[in-house]
Amino acid sequence: MTVATAPTRSVSEQVRDLLARMTLEEKIGQLQMVQGGGGHVPDHLRDAVQDGRIGSVLNETNVEAVNSLQWIATKQSRLGIPLLVGRDVIHGFKTVFPIPLGQAATWNPALVERGARIAALEAARTGVNWTFAPMLDIGRDPRWGRVAEGFGEDPFLTGVMGAASVRGYQGDDLSAPGSIAACAKHFAGYGASESGRDYNTTNIPENELRNVHLPPFHAAVEAGAASVMTSFSDIDGIPATANRFLLRTVLREEWAFDGVVVSDWESIRQLATHGLTAGDRDSALEAAQAGVDIEMASTAYADHLADLVCEGLVPLATLDALVENILTMKFRLGLFEQPFTEPSAFPQQCNSAHLAAARDAATESLVLLKNVPGMLPLSFAHTPHVAVIGPLADEAHEQLGTWIFDGDTQHCVHVLDAIRALAAASPAADVRVTHARGLATTRSTDHALIAEAARVASEADVVVLVAGEEAILSGEAHCRADITLPGAQEALITALAETGKPIVLVLMAGRALALERVLPKVHALLYAWHPGTMGGPAIADVLFGVREPSGRLPVSLPRVPGQVPIYYAHKNTGKPATPETIVHMNDIPARAAQLSVGNTSFHLDVHPSPLFAFGSGLSYSQVGYSDLRADATELSRDAALEIRVDVTNTGPRDAHEVVQLYLRDPVASVTRPVRELKAFQKILLHPGERRTVAFTLHASDLAFYGRAMRRQAEPGRFHVWVGGSADADLRLDFTLVD
Ligand code: NOJ
Repeated sequence: MTVATAPTRSVSEQVRDLLARMTLEEKIGQLQMVQGGGGHVPDHLRDAVQDGRIGSVLNETNVEAVNSLQWIATKQSRLGIPLLVGRDVIHGFKTVFPIPLGQAATWNPALVERGARIAALEAARTGVNWTFAPMLDIGRDPRWGRVAEGFGEDPFLTGVMGAASVRGYQGDDLSAPGSIAACAKHFAGYGASESGRDYNTTNIPENELRNVHLPPFHAAVEAGAASVMTSFSDIDGIPATANRFLLRTVLREEWAFDGVVVSDWESIRQLATHGLTAGDRDSALEAAQAGVDIEMASTAYADHLADLVCEGLVPLATLDALVENILTMKFRLGLFEQPFTEPSAFPQQCNSAHLAAARDAATESLVLLKNVPGMLPLSFAHTPHVAVIGPLADEAHEQLGTWIFDGDTQHCVHVLDAIRALAAASPAADVRVTHARGLATTRSTDHALIAEAARVASEADVVVLVAGEEAILSGEAHCRADITLPGAQEALITALAETGKPIVLVLMAGRALALERVLPKVHALLYAWHPGTMGGPAIADVLFGVREPSGRLPVSLPRVPGQVPIYYAHKNTGKPATPETIVHMNDIPARAAQLSVGNTSFHLDVHPSPLFAFGSGLSYSQVGYSDLRADATELSRDAALEIRVDVTNTGPRDAHEVVQLYLRDPVASVTRPVRELKAFQKILLHPGERRTVAFTLHASDLAFYGRAMRRQAEPGRFHVWVGGSADADLRLDFTLVD
């Protein structure tokens, strides 16, 4: 029997009607997500779907197999309930966009939205109707491999990008063809895994949880995210998958989230491994009570929930609520009306418009951090012989980054080919592009190829060195303790520097690397993250001035690994470092007496600042800020404060400036960060152009969870800085009055 759809009835009526006709086993079946059959439908899967023992599958992207599964579910099962089909569509599907960290570096939410839309269209063509993205974990420890999958260290930027990506995946109408359900993950606090080691314990005080880790999730929920995934991690003694405070109090009660909560892969079963439960039965009980709707991969619900319900330990109403959430999502996705996928109804994957969008996103993700005057942009007229060197110069696969299950290397253009294409089109005389790898891989410690690379460099006018980290060095479970350049890359840079040729370092990485030793040896540094399918042309365009560099750091870059976590929105401490108190250990006289007064907070062996501040990035022009002003000195709770600043391009080229507004509440009921990003605008300024940029602040922008753990703005004085990075020094003050 199939479900008769009556479009005139509301979703909740249809859900209630269906629920009333379900057996206990069918209800529990909806909670189970299993791995697809990898391109076909094995017998065990067919039987399970037919019997109503499965509500969703993941990792099946063969459209025939997906349609077969939907056929079995809708035509051959008793109630004809369609399946959710999940996939990790993280930064593109066939067309790969920059890793999310790189997308955050665009500071352009419209690009992020467009990328997610294209990813949704390409994935939907295969029958996928649910992505496990965006990842909204705050990434303040670059040792953690999953920083690549998130939008960086800042709650506000992560929230803006997270909401943009939810809009992109889901569109205006979740049931429209090409819309897929988004999933805000990993709820919550996963980014705080101790020492950046994946899956590790987190200890996050509620105040920090609410002020730092939860806001991006709230933004995604407000943007309509259809689902939320629990984190693998233990938070303050209760693993997230059993955490009623997170899943019920915050998510359901405070935020009124009415979508689906899915566990992470076997994270219900792992409640026992954490030591919270004695086994699957208790784990099922804990997760159901916490409100986890879908169990991914493990079978604690399938094996034990019926007994738990029959014994009265899990009330039927609790089970019904879980099932209702899942059925509601299926109705919202329009799956009851149209469970099948006709690929020809969707645009071709990797079509030219998709590739162009990926190229735009990659271009804007590139962050220029160093540029000795006259170095970039390159021109074949001035430096006709370019040596392209490095283990990542011609690596289509590596530039795609982590989580590219479906990524198409076929269409991927690497840096060497892209520079060769520009050279071929150049009218300049005697243009030459030569190439040497220097190292077999980024991890290689074998110096055998370095001498040849130095020889190739010595014959050129300029060296473009493409180095960093291969894709496999970041992402899930791929964490590093030493976040300097891996392998013998520093030796390669030293050898190239010894040739005396100018070096432009293009750095691909899934995280912030510690580059203090390397920076002085290069003339320019372009941070490229893993830029995706069109990374090569994007990089070549920016190096040769076809496009302007416009990315800004979504994370602080440490000088040395021992500085991490290092982030701009830190607390002040009672003894903040000042320029007068900082001392390097090499400058301390032997047998100096150690004092306990007058000390401040810094490491003895490294300057306390990051190598590059959050929000920073250069253009090929010069931009100045002036006349920061507000339309009042006081802000009352129901009013708005207009803040304006003049931004001028004083250089010779177009500049894309990211105008950033930071705020500080210097005296509050709980200590507050020294600065917090509250707004930004990315603008284009032509040479000589001056623009007034306006921001509007409301009391809600000043709000935070204070001593009473309620979100509110506290009256008093506030500092505002506006400028081109978290180091902005143009400041004004205003007062919030009741
Ligand atoms: C585990 C990862 O933590 C999660 O992010 C991902 O969505 C699932 N596996 C499914 O692949």
